[in-house]
Amino acid sequence: MTQAAAVSSTSAPSLDALYALIRDDLKRVDALILERVKSDVALIEHIARHIIASGGKRIRPALTLIASKLCGYEGTRHVALAAAVEFIHTATLLHDDVVDESVLRRGLDTANVVFGNKASVLVGDYLLSQAFQMMVADGNPKVLRILSDASAVIARGEVMQLMTEGDLDTSLERYLEVISSKTAVLFAAASELGAVVTGQEKSESALREFGLNIGIAFQLVDDALDYAADQEKLGKTVGDDFREGKITLPVIIAANAGSAEEKSFWRRVMTDKEQAPDDLARATSLLAKHNATAQTVAMARNYCQKARASLAGFEPSAARDAMLDLVDFCASRAY
Ligand code: IPE
Ligand code: IPE
Ligand code: MG
Ligand code: MG
Repeated sequence: MTQAAAVSSTSAPSLDALYALIRDDLKRVDALILERVKSDVALIEHIARHIIASGGKRIRPALTLIASKLCGYEGTRHVALAAAVEFIHTATLLHDDVVDESVLRRGLDTANVVFGNKASVLVGDYLLSQAFQMMVADGNPKVLRILSDASAVIARGEVMQLMTEGDLDTSLERYLEVISSKTAVLFAAASELGAVVTGQEKSESALREFGLNIGIAFQLVDDALDYAADQEKLGKTVGDDFREGKITLPVIIAANAGSAEEKSFWRRVMTDKEQAPDDLARATSLLAKHNATAQTVAMARNYCQKARASLAGFEPSAARDAMLDLVDFCASRAY
């Protein structure tokens, strides 16, 4: 089995049913996003459009929309909140690509390549401020708390990650804390908002748990894909994490299981960041030797199982089925 096949199954689960169910709402979200990035400062609109129009899976806003549907919501507040969630996500991507020195995002040159680091950071801040304006316009104190807490935790997670760069002693617990913070907390917030807008307090914690668990699974698979994906499909550069010395689970597993000679290889490339052209291929073959990608994906699938369990208390419905499809997608995605 190839590394890519270890991550994504042959018939990757589709999000079509999910997108079909929320099609109109998602269109409203996209329209609102484009409306909100209009600016008399041309560079703001330019950069925002560059990243927003380049696509993206819209998984986080989809979560807010589908969780609202699951709870039987019939109003319109969920649209602006879903847009706010996508703005927070987009802002973190702009910042993340500067920090990670990434050159490819959503199949295009990153904003930092096209417009430079300074402009990317500043427009990332601008998008974050748009998200805050939108949540303040909603006005519900719970919404404000959920989204502002999520933003704080994401920023903390990104700093924690920076501190573990090159540190091969990073524990599994520490790694899980980083990915929960930088990624899963926004998934959790996005889905909890569905219960909050509906005023369905008893569903808040189940939806939050659902989001947290698929978010952790999503980042675990992302970290596997960084070594194993088909770059064209992924729309990001394979090997970014390696070049950066980012300590992710596949590396933790392979380095811990490795011989003394292998450990010294990992120290040279990740800690000392002395990398020769063939080193990524060597790293990938060590991951394969120790089943590190497959083990990472297996762990993701455990979190997916937890996510499924959080939906058990909801009546069967098309919305619930679509959320289960999303779980399957997160477990086996190739992009
Ligand atoms: C990328 O998220 C950042 C991670 C948490 C890995 P997505 O893979 O959801 O990015 P887009 O929005 O679809 O481009
Ligand atoms: C996700 O981590 C970062 C954020 C949550 C912003 P990655 O650095 O792995 O994300 P990609 O791979 O660049 O999308
Ligand atoms: Mg990155
Ligand atoms: Mg990644």
